[in-house]
Amino acid sequence: MTLPNKVKIVEVGPRDGLQNEKQVVPTEIKIELINRLAEAGVRVIEATSFVSPKWVPQMGDNSAVMQGIKRHIAAVYPVLTPNLQGFDAAIQAGATEVAIFGAASESFSRKNINCSIAESLKRFEPVVSAASALEIPVRGYVSCVVGCPYEGAIAPEQAASVARTLFDMGCYEVSLGDTIGVGNPASISRMIEACAKAIPVAKLAGHYHDTYGMAIANIHASLQLGVAVFDSSIAGLGGCPYAKGASGNVATEDVVYLLHGLGIETGIDLATLAAIGDWISSAINRPNGAKAGRAICAKTSA
Ligand code: HMG
Ligand code: MG
Repeated sequence: MTLPNKVKIVEVGPRDGLQNEKQVVPTEIKIELINRLAEAGVRVIEATSFVSPKWVPQMGDNSAVMQGIKRHIAAVYPVLTPNLQGFDAAIQAGATEVAIFGAASESFSRKNINCSIAESLKRFEPVVSAASALEIPVRGYVSCVVGCPYEGAIAPEQAASVARTLFDMGCYEVSLGDTIGVGNPASISRMIEACAKAIPVAKLAGHYHDTYGMAIANIHASLQLGVAVFDSSIAGLGGCPYAKGASGNVATEDVVYLLHGLGIETGIDLATLAAIGDWISSAINRPNGAKAGRAICAKTSA
């Protein structure tokens, strides 16, 4: 298979990246981050989540974030909605795209959203119906597609089965989450192959955390299987509150460096992106996790 000419980047830093920060990140910083990413050419920016603030306090300012951002005409700002309560709040706050999130592992599903996989899928049905009535696109996530912090290895068929259910329910795209970043090109390829038998590959996205440093290799392997949508996080921010020890998503700067190097278009300005990664890392007092980002900034300041 030849590599795609174009890749869609779904920037998840403002949500996946920041949700696990211990210090509350000021709402103005979140808004500025989202606005700057749109200016750099990012066209899908997951802005926040409408989950319980008792479970994830960092996302408690979800409505203020949605109402504070300057919406770029060409960009969309999806938000996570685990249930109808979250969906209603998201719509109230002006969301025009939402995402539901399930898991391929029973234990992770219970820890993350307090219900079984089957219960979660039942809970998503009214969200998708309500969204469809308002013509709101819904993205689906499957967590722990290759490994789970509680259950170990996950069978590719299990990931594919949950992905298929979300797709059949009406999700326009299903993002496959290596939540704890344990995958490697072999296990990720097996998982993608199983999912691509269940759903058209054009409807799949890779969402790889970089805990073991494999995410860039996993993206390269996925590209070769025809995947052309990847989730990433500016400066490699993040980690999941219900997956102890998991580090952030692969850094957007590193992904864009890889893609441009392969001659694949993203529409994103890498130098601007690197500067944003540098800025947000110092704004929240955290080391910049983007290798390409750090290298570009070092060259610029030299
Ligand atoms: P629950 O406790 O089972 O919910 O939580 P409940 O329906 O029994 O309600 C209990 C309380 O929560 C009630 O409040 C509800 O009002 C409130 P109380 O009466 O006690 O004051 N509540 C809500 N409040 C605000 N927004 C809502 C909402 N729903 C109920 N939407 C629930 C179930 C799903 C809400 C909870 O488990 C939760 O919020 N979990 C958060 C999960 C989360 O955000 N995880 C991180 C994101 S997922 C991720 O990072 C993985 C991903 O990146 C992919 C990957 O890497 O694999 C996507
Ligand atoms: Mg994630």
